[in-house]
Amino acid sequence: MQLNGTETTLYEALGGETTIRRLVEAFYPRVYRDPDLRPLFPNGVDEIKEKQFMFLTQFTGGPALYSEKYGPPRMRYRHLAFEITPRRAAAWLRCMSGAMEEIGLKGPLADIFFERLKEVAGIMVNTPDGMEIKSLNALREFSDEKFTMQTVHRMGNSVSLVLGFKPGQELPPHKHSGAFVFVLVLEGEGTVTVGDKTARVQREDSICIDGDEMFSFRNTGSGPARLHVVLAK
Ligand code: HEM
Repeated sequence: MQLNGTETTLYEALGGETTIRRLVEAFYPRVYRDPDLRPLFPNGVDEIKEKQFMFLTQFTGGPALYSEKYGPPRMRYRHLAFEITPRRAAAWLRCMSGAMEEIGLKGPLADIFFERLKEVAGIMVNTPDGMEIKSLNALREFSDEKFTMQTVHRMGNSVSLVLGFKPGQELPPHKHSGAFVFVLVLEGEGTVTVGDKTARVQREDSICIDGDEMFSFRNTGSGPARLHVVLAK
């Protein structure tokens, strides 16, 4: 990354080894105190603290300490042995933001770091919290600039979204290689193009798309259109 015109890593910009050590020291006592996380960590704290120090060092662009000792990180795979629910992911992130606050790690770079952790924590989720119910009607949003996108549920690499389109707005051609894409028209009408085929769709039409194909949508109706999209991996 560029900082004051010089190429540097997030690792160096955040304060290198000293910061990562202090962060890990502040983080694990919180994890071991947290009622949702504690049952997952029956073992002593020293080993996991050292592993996390090594991992976060390389995660932020510092020396590849973790891979040198343990091989490819494959963090989702390594976490599969544990039931990681959205609630536990939120608790993990709360412990991390508390630790960052405790050691005074704040500002735009700290925000970038935390955003990246949020992404990884989301990917680690492998078990639902029993049941999560959301009203798609409450996710009814449109913008004059471009189509809107809101996440409904996320589980590991799979995600469901609601997209909102004003008349004439378009989801440009793109693909989701390796995924299955299911689209349900919640409201309005439009045209869907998959590869070289175009079809008109309207409310309650359901479309199944091979994620390796190029896909686009245009709201050709006179009112708003909304799609419920499931990207299943
Ligand atoms: C989303 C919530 C998360 C939960 C509930 C969770 C839980 C766990 C558990 C139970 C272990 C095993 C502890 C042990 O071996 O005693 C572990 C290991 C580990 N976690 Fe997480 N974790 C989460 C997210 C993350 C994230 C976001 C990262 C990195 C950014 C991460 C990095 C690690 C590392 C490096 C290890 C050690 C892996 C190894 O055994 O080599 N975890 N985690």
